[in-house]
Amino acid sequence: MGIIVSPSLLSADFLHLSEDIEMVNNSEAEWFHIDVMDGVFVPNISYGMSIISQIRTQAKKPLDVHLMIVEPERYIGQFHQCGAEILTVHLEASTHLHRTIQQIKSYGMKAGVALNPHTSVQLLEDILPELDVVLLMSVNPGFGGQSFIEHSVDKVKKLRQLIQDTHSHALIEVDGGVNNETGKRLAEASADALVAGSFVFHSASPLETIKGLTQLK
Ligand code: DX5
Ligand code: ZN
Repeated sequence: MGIIVSPSLLSADFLHLSEDIEMVNNSEAEWFHIDVMDGVFVPNISYGMSIISQIRTQAKKPLDVHLMIVEPERYIGQFHQCGAEILTVHLEASTHLHRTIQQIKSYGMKAGVALNPHTSVQLLEDILPELDVVLLMSVNPGFGGQSFIEHSVDKVKKLRQLIQDTHSHALIEVDGGVNNETGKRLAEASADALVAGSFVFHSASPLETIKGLTQLK
């Protein structure tokens, strides 16, 4: 199986969003990555439910929604309603993470947990068997176009070991600073899915760029 590519619409052209959604529809990407930022958990504000609902009407692939918000448990039903298939919350933002994960699954969505660069994968040990996705942040969340943090490659390897030890079926997704070079090392370290924003949308041929990323494994 090739790498799952989840292009981040944060780097799309919002004046021509429809064209960028169509490009992803026609590409070899498997998911749409949607970054929700609240200006509290991260120092930036992106977009919310009304835009996601509109994206849903045109997107032909699952919406992989990455919540960078405090108290994500307050909004799980609303994100389900606007079309999220995969809903990922930050471990650092949810005090009762186990309950939050159960809530996400109760709506039939796949449940993900994201870790900031400073957060150890060991903290997932007791929740891993419940998860569908672990999203490792390879930049500090909040902005597209940042440089890749090197120790993320080792983190993927450590997480793979922990997934095996806990008999979890969670996919390993990595987000931030992904390009062909960092993506290749992540794929070799056993990442299943790569998020790419600026590398895809600022490239001369986004379709080819996505295709290249899917073939890194
Ligand atoms: C950052 C977001 C990312 C972002 C990635 O906080 O979670 O999904 O869009 O952008 P690039 O690929 O440009 O680093
Ligand atoms: Zn993201």
